Amino acid sequence: MTETTPMPAGRSPAPAGDGEKICYCFEVYEKTIEQAVRAFGLRTVDEVKQATKAGCGCHTCHPEIEEILARCARGAFRFPAGNPAPLPPALRPLRRS
Ligand code: FES
Repeated sequence: MTETTPMPAGRSPAPAGDGEKICYCFEVYEKTIEQAVRAFGLRTVDEVKQATKAGCGCHTCHPEIEEILARCARGAFRFPAGNPAPLPPALRPLRRS
């Protein structure tokens, strides 16, 4: 079963079903963050920042990133496991087994 959360006021869905736009500074959508969390075992906002750039600007989206991390930690995924772009070499230490 997937968890559903009402979309906060002011949020807009992505046109192609990528979920909410989470990071407005870097145009990062929920699906991208969730798939990176799943693929790379990300556990912190800093790790999400390194992997996706979400959260690297004004920091306003950090609570939403925390919510996605918590939801994924519970196994409540909204999107199928994806195949995000490979991490750049400098970020590969983030990969967990
Ligand atoms: S909205 Fe994500 S860093 Fe500004």
